[in-house]
Order: sequence, then C-alpha cells, then structure tokens
Amino acid sequence: MREAIRFLTPYLMRHQRTLWLGFGALLCKDLLGALLPLVIRRGIDTLQAGQGWRAVGEFAGLMIGLSLTKGFFQYWMRRLLVGVSRDLEFDLRNDIYAHLVTLSRDFFLKYPAGDVMARTTNDLNSVRMMAGPGMMYWTETMGTLVLAFAVMLSVDVPLTLAALAPAPVISLLVIFYGQRIHARFEQIQEVFSGISSRVQESISGMRVLRAYNQGDAELRAFGRMNDADLRRNLELVKTTGGFEPLLHAMIGVAFLIVLWVGGTRLLDGRISLGSFVMFQTYMGMLIWPMIAMGWVINLIQRGTASLGRIRELLNYPPAIAAPANSLRPEQLRGEIEFENVHGEYALAGVNLRISAGETVAIAGHTGCGKTTLAQMAPRLLDPASGAVRIDGADVRAYDPAWLRRSIAVVPQETFLFSMTLAENIALGVPDAPREEIERVAEIAGLGPDLAAMPQGLDTVIGERGITLSGGQRQRTAIARAILRAPSILILDDALSSVDTVTEERILRELTGVMRGRTTLLISHRVSTIRHADRIVVLREGKIAEEGTHAELVAAQGLYAALVRQQQLEEEIASI
Ligand SMILES: Nc1ncnc2c1ncn2[C@@H]1O[C@H](COP(=O)(O)OP(=O)(O)OP(=O)(O)O)[C@@H](O)[C@H]1O
Ligand SMILES: [Mg+2]
Repeated sequence: MREAIRFLTPYLMRHQRTLWLGFGALLCKDLLGALLPLVIRRGIDTLQAGQGWRAVGEFAGLMIGLSLTKGFFQYWMRRLLVGVSRDLEFDLRNDIYAHLVTLSRDFFLKYPAGDVMARTTNDLNSVRMMAGPGMMYWTETMGTLVLAFAVMLSVDVPLTLAALAPAPVISLLVIFYGQRIHARFEQIQEVFSGISSRVQESISGMRVLRAYNQGDAELRAFGRMNDADLRRNLELVKTTGGFEPLLHAMIGVAFLIVLWVGGTRLLDGRISLGSFVMFQTYMGMLIWPMIAMGWVINLIQRGTASLGRIRELLNYPPAIAAPANSLRPEQLRGEIEFENVHGEYALAGVNLRISAGETVAIAGHTGCGKTTLAQMAPRLLDPASGAVRIDGADVRAYDPAWLRRSIAVVPQETFLFSMTLAENIALGVPDAPREEIERVAEIAGLGPDLAAMPQGLDTVIGERGITLSGGQRQRTAIARAILRAPSILILDDALSSVDTVTEERILRELTGVMRGRTTLLISHRVSTIRHADRIVVLREGKIAEEGTHAELVAAQGLYAALVRQQQLEEEIASI
C-alpha cells in the first residue's frame, strides 16, 4: 500500500490544482452533510417548544437549500477527482507503452502479448479505480465519519460510545476480508492474462489452426481456461458475498444499540427528542460510508494487486540503453568487423572483416547462426562475448537509434502492418516523397504487382499483410529497407519466396543502389549469393570456408557440395 502511494504520487502531483479543488469540494460536501441532522434537531426541538407553521416552513426551506448546495459540491467533487484519475490513466498508459517499446526479445518471450494486453487494459483500469473513485470515497467516508462522531460526542458522550461499540468488529471484518479479496483478485488477473494470450495467439494463428483441424481442440483448451476463470471469480463472489451481509448485520446492531440506549436516555430526559432523532439520522447517514468502506477496501485491494503487475512491466530493464555520449557520425563508411563473436545460442568464435562497399554472402546449414550474426550489427542482439565493430568503433558506443537508421535489415520473417503499401514502405521515414516510394517499389520488383492492385501503392493490406503473397511481402520489406538509403544493407533470406528470374532482376537493381555501400546477403540459395564479392560459409558456429564463388567451387568443400546439390535439383525439376 505504501509503495502504491509512493509510485502514484508523482502522477497525482501533476494535477495538484485540480486535486486541491476536488478535495475542497469534498470537504464542503461533507461539512454540509454533517450539518443536516443538526438542523433537523433544531427543527424538532423548536416544534416541541410550540412554534407554529412559520418555523416549520423556515426549517424545511433551510434543509432544501442545504441539500441543493451539498449536491452542487458533490457534483464538482466527482467531476474533478474522477477526472484526475482519467488523466492518471492516460499518463500511466503512455509511460507503459513508451517503456514497452524499449524492451528486448527476452521480455516478449517471457510475457506473451495477451498478458501484456491484460496488464495495460484491465490492470490499468483497476489502478485508476483505486486512485480515482477509491481515493475519493475513502476521504469522503472518513470525513463523514469524523464529523458525525464529533457532533454526536458533543451532544451525548455515553450514547456515542454505545453507537461505536460494533466498530472494532467491523474493523476486524474489513481486515480479514480485505486480505482474502486481494489474493483472490490477483489470481483472477493472472487467469485473465492467460485467456487474453490464448485468444490473441489463436486468432493470429487461425489459418494454421484451421488447416490442422485444431478448432475443437482449441475450443476445449479455451473452455478449460474459461472454466478456471469462472471458478476463480465465483470464489471472489463467495468472499465478497460473505463480507457484505456481515457488514450489514453489524450496521443493524449499531442501529439497535442507538435505538435502545438512546430511547432509554430520551425517556430519562437526559437528551431531547431532537437529539434522539439526530442520532438516528447520523446512523442512517453512516450506513452508506460503511458499505462504501467495504467497496473501497475491495477497490484498493484490486488496485494494489494490479499496480504490482504493472510495475513488474515498468521495472523490466530496457534492452539496450543508449550510452550517455554516444557516437552519431555524419555518415557510416560501412566497415563491419566481427571479432571472436560468441552468441548465447549459436556462434562459437566468428572472426570476419567486411570492408566498406563490399558485398558479402553468408551461407550455411539451417540453424547455424546466420540470423544471429546479422542481428548483431544493428544491435538487435548483443554478442555474449567478443566484439562487433563498425567503422572501427564498437557498436555499443553508437546511439542505437542512429545505428538502426544507418543499417537496414530485411528480416527473415517480414512483418507488415495493416496500413497501405506506401505507408508500410515508408515506415520510419514519414516525410518520404511519393516518387521515392515509387522508385524503391520498382527496384524491389513490385512494379507488376502494383499495376494489378486496385489502388496500387494505396492499397490497404490486411493484418500482417495477409492479403499479399509471400514474395510480395518480402519485396515490400526490401523496398522498406532501401528507401532509407542505408550505409549497410542486410538481406536475411529476403528473396527466398521469389522465383529465380525475379530474384536475379532484383539483385541486379540492388547492385546499382548499393554501389559504394556494404551489403550482407544471407541465403541458402546459390543463385542469390554466387555474384557476391565474397562468400562465407558458417558451420557449427564458426567460419568454415571463405572465398569467391569460383574459388569455393574449386576448393571442393561444403559450398561446392551445396552448388552440386542445387544443380541436381534444378535438373530434376526441369525434366
Ligand atoms: N531465443 C532463443 N532461444 C533459444 N535458442 C535460440 C534462440 N534464438 C536462436 N536460437 C538458436 O540459435 C541457433 C541459430 O539460430 P539462427 O536463427 O541464427 O539460425 P540461422 O542460421 O539463421 O537459421 P536459418 O537458416 O534456418 O534461418 C538455432 O539453433 C536456434 O535454435
Ligand atoms: Mg535465419
């Protein structure tokens, strides 16, 4: 709880003025509310003293006036304080998102998308409910309690003490149930995160699920999770279901005590009828705060549980923090050097030096670490040991954002967004002129495809580019990379879904674009890599062979075997 307050204070302080006004309205509302029973007492006592209709009218008018003013302040209290909680939700959500985009792959392996979604929606809402309505009703209730008891004490001490008798029992109830509600609610949020992740994943993978007839199995698995959610929620209902009736019963007892003790004191003539009615009115006024207290405890328990889950995200360290005085040179020459690079899962001491402007191909069996190596240049991944240098400086010395602007990677698995093709190509280059986008689309071999599309470059592609063919997606990703005119271009198996004729044309176009710039070509296909200045073959995490196409064929090693095998395949295919 204390931690929650410490965390939320800076967010609340941004709206200090509104908060003061809101709490001011709350105080006025509470004061006017506490005044009402006093007016009733005066009214009854004056009536008893034999005053006529005039007095009744005056008191009635006074009460209506008081109630209306109280309503006015109540409106502003709610509007301002609940408003602040919406602002807090807005700020906190922005901060969470800003943090999420800095996180590494590890984070997204550990926390599935659905779980993150649950934390940024459901949990965030619980925190807002705690910081807004929770905090407001807590203060309002406390104010009412304190004021009511202060007035009651000043009128009759013994009767007030009698009315307070059930208070310790109520406190115990609140503490006992509060802890249980907190624990149950934490479990519910966890199950809900699981459900979100499942739904998110199966909707993304719907095509595969259908193809493998996993519809029923998926339904059953989902049913089980849904069932767990239902059970957890029922447990929570059982807990709150026990809590509220008990609370009401204790309130009933308090009423009874006031009726009994107060009645006796009235008959003994120690208090006036007006005071007796006033006590009853205060007790009536206190029912709502006591119920609200139960509800507020619930909100606070949920809110703190949820805040814990949100802070877990926020405390996750960012993948790569920008060094304080990082390098951002005007232009990269494009020299890359890998020195004794080891990766966490692949690579066992790679030494490779690529000169500026060179085109180097990396070949090797699937899973030998080609993608791992390629991702180390723009620091999408850091080596476990060893060093990667660009233009002679360690990549860790550069500003990561700047580094990624200068090095374009076309990843093995392209990701397109549900925007237009032009927007997908211009990702990260918001002010790209239209002619430039058209030019790179042409270079990437998208020309004929665009002509066949209803709106050409302005065609909106479905989620993740579902309306495009595999080859069209790859070429869109290539266009995206060359639009940034990178100093270093890395194509990670980026032509695998394109036929060899188109591939050759794209490679020819690319040679023109990449003249004087460094290119890294990763592929299994001999047709892709044969024209590279140099070919490097990886095997078991190390460089096994290195040379031009002709040299490697002559060497009769791994690469030569690959060439022979693919020639054979082509011959068989052409029969
Ligand atoms: N996050 C990870 N956790 C565990 N293992 C990993 C992880 N990332 C990569 N690997 C392992 O590292 C090895 C190299 O992966 P990498 O993607 O670099 O291979 P690749 O040469 O690009 O293969 P392909 O030709 O199939 O694309 C693989 O054996 C892979 O299983
Ligand atoms: Mg790969």
